[in-house]
Amino acid sequence: MLSIRNRGGTGNLSASGRRDGRLQPGMATMTVTEPIIRWVNVYKRFGDNVVLRGVTLDVQRGETLAVVGRSGVGKSVLLKTLLGLMAPDSGEVWVRGRRVTGSQSAMDEGRRLIGMVFQNSALFDSMTVAENIALPYWENTSLPREEVMERVTRLLGMVGLSKVEDLMPAALSGGMRKRVALARALADEPEIILYDEPTTGLDPIMADAINGLIIQMQRDLNVTSIVVTHEMATVRKVAHHVALLHNGEIIFHGTTEDLFTTDNPYVRQFIEGNAEGPITIIPSSTGGPDA
Ligand SMILES: Nc1ncnc2c1ncn2[C@@H]1O[C@H](COP(=O)(O)OP(=O)(O)O)[C@@H](O)[C@H]1O
Ligand SMILES: [Mg+2]
Repeated sequence: MLSIRNRGGTGNLSASGRRDGRLQPGMATMTVTEPIIRWVNVYKRFGDNVVLRGVTLDVQRGETLAVVGRSGVGKSVLLKTLLGLMAPDSGEVWVRGRRVTGSQSAMDEGRRLIGMVFQNSALFDSMTVAENIALPYWENTSLPREEVMERVTRLLGMVGLSKVEDLMPAALSGGMRKRVALARALADEPEIILYDEPTTGLDPIMADAINGLIIQMQRDLNVTSIVVTHEMATVRKVAHHVALLHNGEIIFHGTTEDLFTTDNPYVRQFIEGNAEGPITIIPSSTGGPDA
């Protein structure tokens, strides 16, 4: 049994609505429910560097949305505006029908629905794997230690790990660290999971295993996922919809199939990874922290 909490309900996608784990285009549940996340005309600049220039983007409940774009284009900044780690200069972010921008209480409430898998896994190096995962329980619950440890083991099982509780993060491979980071994100039983570059830096086999986990979480836990990535293999495998961020704007938002078949020259250049094309290579767009 994979679920940590049974979260059935009308807002979620039913198993019958899927084939091969993919949402079906035009599914009623995809079109009639209100988006679980909305960015509405969001602007964000750092000094002269205007990063987001009016981003408007909806994420449907239960889907996996890939946000793609070149390094330094503002993908991580976009996620941070959702997590409340950065405030938009203008525009609004909505989570589950509530505006979280400008309201600390709404932001805190929205934040509780979200699990985040950071790009570098962001594990505490001085703590064991178990202590890293148990942290949300120590901070937010008064569960007895034994019960917490049982949950830790269960969460590790969900991400395909066993008998690693007492290891230090430094002893783990990159792929294992990602899994532990995902287990920790699951501890809060999130409705939404954000993955920032989940497969970057992993070998293709490890990357494929992480992609498999992203799909598994979406299927088995009914989570909504946003996957920030520039890996086309990840997009192809996990995403139902894709948003392409370029020059601070979403220049494409459509199904994964549309992404790979469109003749939009910007999109084609991006997915084919061509240096030549309408997307010009300017110095400022290579300066991102994870470039
Ligand atoms: N805290 C910050 N202070 C100043 N500039 C920032 C900060 N965070 C991000 N930036 C800038 O915003 C742009 C987008 O960064 P980021 O969202 O990290 O890009 P990416 O798409 O690679 O995730 C980059 O030019 C980066 O230098
Ligand atoms: Mg980033």
